[in-house]
Parts: sequence; C-alpha cells; structure tokens
Amino acid sequence: MDITSSLHKAAEIIKNSQYLIALTGAGISVESGIPDFRSAGGLWEKYDPAVYAHIDSFRQNPEMIWEMLFEMIELTKNARPNPAHLALAELEKKNILKALITQNIDNLHQEAGNTNVIEFHGNAHRLECLVCHHEMPVESTDFGGKPPKCPRCGQIMKPQVVFFGEMIPPDALMESQMLANSADAILVVGTSAVVYPASSIPYIAKQNRAKVIEMNLEQTAITGSITDVFIQGKVGETLPELLEIIFA
Ligand code: APR
Repeated sequence: MDITSSLHKAAEIIKNSQYLIALTGAGISVESGIPDFRSAGGLWEKYDPAVYAHIDSFRQNPEMIWEMLFEMIELTKNARPNPAHLALAELEKKNILKALITQNIDNLHQEAGNTNVIEFHGNAHRLECLVCHHEMPVESTDFGGKPPKCPRCGQIMKPQVVFFGEMIPPDALMESQMLANSADAILVVGTSAVVYPASSIPYIAKQNRAKVIEMNLEQTAITGSITDVFIQGKVGETLPELLEIIFA
C-alpha cells in the first residue's frame, strides 16, 4: 500500500476510534536531535547496553555509568519538541488521543503539551539513592561534571530511569496494560518494539481487537505481524501529514 493510502486508512481508523492510545520510542525524538538506541550511530553503538545500561553495572561502577549519563544529559539538554511531538499533543487536545505511553525519558511529550503521559521507563528528572532510597528532583542538569551524591548517605545517586535488570514502575505497567486492554486503536511511533514489556503493549491492544497503526523509519519486530497500517518515514513529517488528513 502506498504511503498516501496508508495515511488515509490510518486517518479513517483514528476518526472512527473511541479510545486511541499511543506508544512511543526514541525514534520520535531523533528529529529533536536525540539519537535513538539501535539505529546506526545510536547510543548503543557507542555504549554496550549490557555494560552501561544494566543496574548491576551501576551498582558496581556508578562513576563509569555516569560518563554515559552525562553524555545523554548533554544530548537532551537543548532538545525541543519536534512536529511529531506537537502532532500527538494536538490529538490529545482534540480529545482523540486518550493516553500516551512513552519509553522515552526526555520529557518532550510533556513539553509539547501532552498531559496524560505514562513514563514506562521512568524519568530523568528525579534522582534516587539505591542505598537509603532517598529521592529528589533534579534541580539542574549541571552537576559540575561529578556524579550527584545523596545528601543523606553520601552514595552516588541514580536517575529514576529504568535500567535493564530493573522493574518497570508498577503503576506505569498496570496503567499501560489497562489502557492497552481498553484501546480500540493504538499508534505505535518510533520504536523498534524489541524491548519487553513495553513491546507487549501493542500485542495486548491487538488481542483486544484494537487496530495497530505503526509509524516508523523502518520495518520493525511487529510490522509483519500485528500491524494493520504501516506508515514508513520520518515521523516529524508523517505525523503532521496524518493530522492534516484527519482534520481536513
Ligand atoms: N522517524 C520515525 N522513526 C524513526 C526515526 C524518525 N525520524 N528515527 C529513528 N526511527 C526509528 C528507528 O528506525 C527504530 O526502529 O525509531 C526506532 C527506534 O528504536 P530504538 O532505538 O530501539 O529505540 P526504542 O524502541 O525506544 O528502545 C526501547 O530500549 O534501550 C532501551 O530503554 C531504552 O527505552 C529504550 C528501549
């Protein structure tokens, strides 16, 4: 199916939906200047996730992990929402998009204006201490080049993002599964759909007869299986095009 007919098919599904949700991944923020993880030049090309993104590595050598975290902070510090984020905010504003589940920790959906955002992998705006469990907001991202220390026990703190080997925040997991069970349509945007349990969300929706609309630069783990409409391209372009058709 060519992209124009796919866009029109997706627009029809969305216009007739009663309960549209979205699942987003790093691909939606690439046009904001934040590289994704698994494309060429992505973060995991430089930092092996088994070493740098596993909770055991953080416990053993937090200073080393903070090297990567400082680079991620640098990349996200000046990032702003791009037209794809703004399109999803518009869909919420028009009460079409009921909820947005994101794997991203860059806060760009909230900055774009989405209010019902489930942060499946936590968020980088709070720090937590793995020893005394003290939590605190990240006042500024300028740590003076040193990993932040817990004001209570002096241990190096960790951003409240989900590392491999950690649990998904239970409330985020429960709410996302409930949303996927209620949805009659799901927009899957900018994710390779390989990391469980986030990757199970489209399957849960599909099992409940939701239509799956996938918007991605390349085919993914779900394109040939549960996807009903696949719109290939940069979402900074295809999402605004989709909204033009929906609101034409
Ligand atoms: N427009 C649309 N899709 C894009 C764009 C773009 N401009 N740029 C990249 N993509 C696609 C890539 O082709 C890829 O399929 O976005 C997808 C991003 O996939 P990943 O890099 O695997 O990111 P994501 O799916 O979010 O990873 C899930 O893995 O490492 C963990 O915690 C990390 O939350 C992350 C999780």
